[in-house]
Amino acid sequence: MFRISEYSAMAEAKIRALDFPKDNLSGLYAPIAYGMQAGGKRLRPTLLLMAADAFGDAADKAINPAVGIEMFHNFTLLHDDVMDNSDLRRGRPTVHSKWDENTAILSGDTMLTLATKLISDVDDDILRTVINTFNDQALRVYEGQRLDMDFESKEEVALDEYIEMIKAKTGALLGGAAKIGALIGGASEADAEKMYEFGLMLGVAFQIEDDFLDTFGNADTFGKPIGGDINNNKKTFLMVKALVSGGPNAEALKAALKMAAGPTKVKTVTRIYEAMGIAEVCKAEVASYSSKALTAIKKTSLSDDRKDAFRKIIEKLIGRSK
Ligand code: IPE
Ligand code: IPE
Ligand code: MG
Ligand code: MG
Ligand code: MG
Repeated sequence: MFRISEYSAMAEAKIRALDFPKDNLSGLYAPIAYGMQAGGKRLRPTLLLMAADAFGDAADKAINPAVGIEMFHNFTLLHDDVMDNSDLRRGRPTVHSKWDENTAILSGDTMLTLATKLISDVDDDILRTVINTFNDQALRVYEGQRLDMDFESKEEVALDEYIEMIKAKTGALLGGAAKIGALIGGASEADAEKMYEFGLMLGVAFQIEDDFLDTFGNADTFGKPIGGDINNNKKTFLMVKALVSGGPNAEALKAALKMAAGPTKVKTVTRIYEAMGIAEVCKAEVASYSSKALTAIKKTSLSDDRKDAFRKIIEKLIGRSK
């Protein structure tokens, strides 16, 4: 096993080397290169490569599927930024604001197909299982994204509804990445399922942290505009927790949800969160889902030092700033 940073560097190098048609089709491919080659944490391909290596010393064999998983992730981001009216990602204008919405739609569609092709680059004996895993997680992402949008106009969302939504929109892809990597490494079905569970729980922790950073992060390191979720009336972990807590804070938040988007709304909601000590609540929930992720890893048949590599990635993601 390598260090985590070496897996992300492997993915980064392969992504940098991707060659897209230019000339008369640059309107289709330039936004893809722009989206893919803007950096990012490369978490999903890292998970895939790590899992392939952990189960079968197969990181090299897993490189195209790893890039495919990152391509799929970036496809969801092109569309997500349209749906969330986000103008900034990774510190740069989003595709729909640099080009236009039609570009984000069509280049996004193209990325989905490119992703599928890359993911299919596996041995024949696992091809069907890998494609099924990939498609199943993709459906979960779309289901989660639909719920995320539906929740914007709901006054209250229960905590378990919120958790189900983020398991779908974020957890399923991390689970799929870890499971596909495990399959490429030759893991048993039981181990592959444990790896899915690991990614799923890590994804829940990861999304709660993302929700937190959207209000309390630093725009320069986070790379996304702070307060976007508040302006969109997103039912984030912070909002859901605050609303279900009842009392004057919840009432004040309900009133704030009706305010027009803008800095005053962001400030008002942020102050209510602060008054509630929401940071601690977030931290506790992230820790709880991180330990569920660790439990899944412990249940695999991996050796202790290989399990440890996954414990390290969990730790790395807790308390991140970007
Ligand atoms: C953004 O994912 C979407 C979420 C699930 C929160 P990342 O935070 O992994 O984004 P990049 O790829 O590192 O930019
Ligand atoms: C992430 O949701 C889920 C997907 C992109 C599928 P967010 O809307 O929170 O992601 P960011 O914050 O824009 O990266
Ligand atoms: Mg979104
Ligand atoms: Mg978004
Ligand atoms: Mg977010």
